[in-house]
Amino acid sequence: STYKLAVIGGDGIGPDVTQAALEGVEAAALRFGFTVQTTDFDLGAEHYLRTGSVLEADTSAAIKDHDAILLGAVGDPRVAPGILERGLIVALRVAFSQAVNIRPVRLYPGVESPVRGVTPENCDLVVIRENTESLYTGGGSHFHAGGPNAVAIQNSVSTAAATFDAVEFGFQLARLRRGRLTLCHKTNILVHAGRLWEDVVTRVAEEYPDVEHDYVHADAMCQHLPLDPGRFDVVVTDNLFGDIISDLGATVQGGLGVAAGANYNPKGSAPSMFEPVHGSAPDIAGKGWANPAAAALSAALCLAGLGERAAAVTLEAAVASVLAELPALAGPGMGSDTLTLGHRIAERVSSIEV
Ligand code: NAI
Ligand code: MG
Repeated sequence: STYKLAVIGGDGIGPDVTQAALEGVEAAALRFGFTVQTTDFDLGAEHYLRTGSVLEADTSAAIKDHDAILLGAVGDPRVAPGILERGLIVALRVAFSQAVNIRPVRLYPGVESPVRGVTPENCDLVVIRENTESLYTGGGSHFHAGGPNAVAIQNSVSTAAATFDAVEFGFQLARLRRGRLTLCHKTNILVHAGRLWEDVVTRVAEEYPDVEHDYVHADAMCQHLPLDPGRFDVVVTDNLFGDIISDLGATVQGGLGVAAGANYNPKGSAPSMFEPVHGSAPDIAGKGWANPAAAALSAALCLAGLGERAAAVTLEAAVASVLAELPALAGPGMGSDTLTLGHRIAERVSSIEV
């Protein structure tokens, strides 16, 4: 089969890591007998500074006409914070109903976790984050701004429909993995939203009697995740808590260079979007120092999302194999620059036995 991929390299290190990831995808396509047709979309800071607009309606429609989206990162010191991130990434997540954010937290051999006791054997979990609601809907009001009597009201919205999508995806994934699901929330304090999440988990759990489920408060999660990651298989959580604990997860798994993510539309009504967790890293942009592993692992999630499971597993294994050699390779001129690593990953995709 042929898959149409929309490619948005974006800003800073985004285009380089995306190109490296695409090499891995193309090697996988060759090996597993499918075809990938890519369309590059020139979006991000340059486009915005040139045109004054972040994402035109016809561009969005053109992106929609693809099977999946690979995104590098956006963000640029010349553009006020939030304009590109909200105007492009959040806009695409909402427009394409990408209700489920998938964040694997896996420590690959050879990658060092800053947390003592975390090993590849005990660190392999997936955070599933509801991607459109909670406090991030943006609604609210601000009175007496800037003054001593200022009051800000920030609304949080949770619907059973979006919560169901995230929870159901979590149970499906847990069934394919180790059969354990943990709800992470703050039901003792956020009683209304908490009640809704608990109700949805209880309802969906009835359809998955083979999956065990339990509950951990979001604050307690900040201790358990680094100290005992092996206790978790699939963690489902709301938008705010998911943002925070998946960054904690990125640290536990060895940093932004290896943290992959997906914004997934579980209904297939529009393309899902696959992107590393990191941003455009202006501090190292253009230097060739960016680790493309996070982007390549996101591309592996993309292949899984397209139904190419063998290709996905092989691309992940290729990235893991290259990561395992990295400490020996690291350093200027030692073949650890972004595009060289991309070539190595692609070579490994062609040859590795999985
Ligand atoms: P960042 O993730 O771009 O960088 C944080 C630190 O990690 C930097 O020191 C950077 O050099 C390092 N780093 C990031 N990715 C790396 C990689 N692949 N290999 C090696 N080192 C890596 O976050 P920061 O600096 O807070 O944000 C920079 C810009 O990116 C901002 O405009 C921000 O709004 C935007 N951003 C965009 C995101 C996206 O496109 N999804 C996500 C996060 C931030
Ligand atoms: Mg975040």
